[in-house]
Amino acid sequence: MKKQKDQKSSLSSSSPSLLTKLLNAQHQNFLNILSYSLILFCGIIIGILLHSSLQDFASNSSLSIQHISELFLVSPPPPSPPPPPPSPPPPPPPPPSPPPPPPPPSHPEHDGLKRFLRPPENIMHNMKEEELFWRASMAPKIRNYPFPRTPKVAFMFLTKGHLPLAPLWERFFRGHEGFFNIYVHSYPTYNESDSKGSVFHGRQIPSERVDWGYVNMVEAEQRLLANALLDISNERFVLLSESCIPLFNFTTVYTYLTNSTQTHVESYDLLGGVGRGRYSPEMKPRVQLHHWRKGSQWFELNRDVAVEIISDKIYWPLFYRHCHNGCYADEHYIPTLLNIKRSLGRHNSNRTLTWVDWSKGGPHPNRFIRYEVTKEFLEKLRSGGGDENRQCYHNGEKTNICYLFARKFLPTALGRLLRFAPTVLYF
Ligand SMILES: *[C@@H]1O[C@H](CO)[C@@H](O)[C@H](O)[C@H]1NC(C)=O
Ligand SMILES: *[C@@H]1O[C@H](CO)[C@@H](O)[C@H](O)[C@H]1NC(C)=O
Ligand SMILES: *[C@@H]1O[C@H](CO)[C@@H](O)[C@H](O)[C@H]1NC(C)=O
Ligand SMILES: *[C@@H]1O[C@H](CO)[C@@H](O)[C@H](O)[C@H]1NC(C)=O
Ligand SMILES: *[C@@H]1O[C@H](CO)[C@@H](O)[C@H](O)[C@H]1NC(C)=O
Repeated sequence: MKKQKDQKSSLSSSSPSLLTKLLNAQHQNFLNILSYSLILFCGIIIGILLHSSLQDFASNSSLSIQHISELFLVSPPPPSPPPPPPSPPPPPPPPPSPPPPPPPPSHPEHDGLKRFLRPPENIMHNMKEEELFWRASMAPKIRNYPFPRTPKVAFMFLTKGHLPLAPLWERFFRGHEGFFNIYVHSYPTYNESDSKGSVFHGRQIPSERVDWGYVNMVEAEQRLLANALLDISNERFVLLSESCIPLFNFTTVYTYLTNSTQTHVESYDLLGGVGRGRYSPEMKPRVQLHHWRKGSQWFELNRDVAVEIISDKIYWPLFYRHCHNGCYADEHYIPTLLNIKRSLGRHNSNRTLTWVDWSKGGPHPNRFIRYEVTKEFLEKLRSGGGDENRQCYHNGEKTNICYLFARKFLPTALGRLLRFAPTVLYF
């Protein structure tokens, strides 16, 4: 009791100073709380500001990363995954759950090499000639193909229009899809198309006018080569006309060509008016008289030579300018080019694979009509062309297969050719 009283008294006795002290302490507390909450408040505000500005920064910076990677052609970071499919409705009514959405289409970067190797689906295109030749001139420097590659033979037909011997060629090609490609260059006015089932269907390339014995003949050959080069699987390139026929079946022709270590561009040095006489001194100093060669227009060559022919900006312009009026660029340009380019000429057999009969003389070779096509005649063409003194080599070995093709056969010969094909030509 006393103690209580003491306290009371002591309290009452010291009351003025105590009150102020108490009030002071409470004030202090209040100030503290105030300042704490102020700090807290400021903290929250700063946090909110920082958060939003960081978000801004983050989105800007990711944008700029994407932009930079685009500039350097690095594949951009994968796009954010598509929003998850809407979750099926909650349990109560269980309807048959919808089929899962199809997986997103595979990204183009997963296509790999295939995308670069895919041949054009439609060989017709609207590239300018300059664009076509530039694209076609690209050649891989690494010689080994890092993928299984079946070499194909490009059969390039230089025609006026319709191919009268098409039924014979159809039979020749039938069953060998995947080992050849066909390209047809015809007069631009020719607008008919082959039926859907034909091997010639859709094989027309963008064509230009061609005149016999004129430089635009070589341009047509270059156009055929350039279009055929676009398909990386084409390894050998054969030029044919509408009057050409195959003398052997596809298997024999394909093996002969793809297995050959040599190209087949006829090339010889001929003195006199129709040989060296066609040389123009205006082609000096790049093309000298001793470079000048002559040979049949109907060639067979490989990718290396084809690329050289379509990208030649030195010799072709000289021929284009100075090979006129009885010069016949199509008989001189490629043989002369190969003679100048020794590294390519070394691998040329200097003979043509297309038989033709010049025995009657004149500017045009002999043309064969129906009754001239006999079993004996075709057999003669298959075994060296009838010249017993002629010796042909294939990969350094003697062969009696000197010619794989022959010309000139007129449309009237078709019936007999079809009749003899199975027994004499083996197709
Ligand atoms: C982000 O970019 C926008 C416009 O592109 C700009 O207005 C904003 O200031 C940028 N923010 C930051 C944090 O750089
Ligand atoms: C081809 O062109 C000629 C005119 O040059 C025209 O009469 C004909 O109908 C055309 N044919 C086709 C299949 O377009
Ligand atoms: C050509 O074929 C023969 C056998 O058919 C083979 O021995 C030879 O190596 C081949 N040559 C080339 C260059 O492929
Ligand atoms: C073909 O001619 C070239 C010169 O143009 C020569 O290098 C090459 O050895 C010849 N080829 C053959 C098989 O004689
Ligand atoms: C192709 O022709 C040759 C004769 O030239 C023959 O031996 C071979 O059996 C023929 N091949 C086919 C697949 O018909």
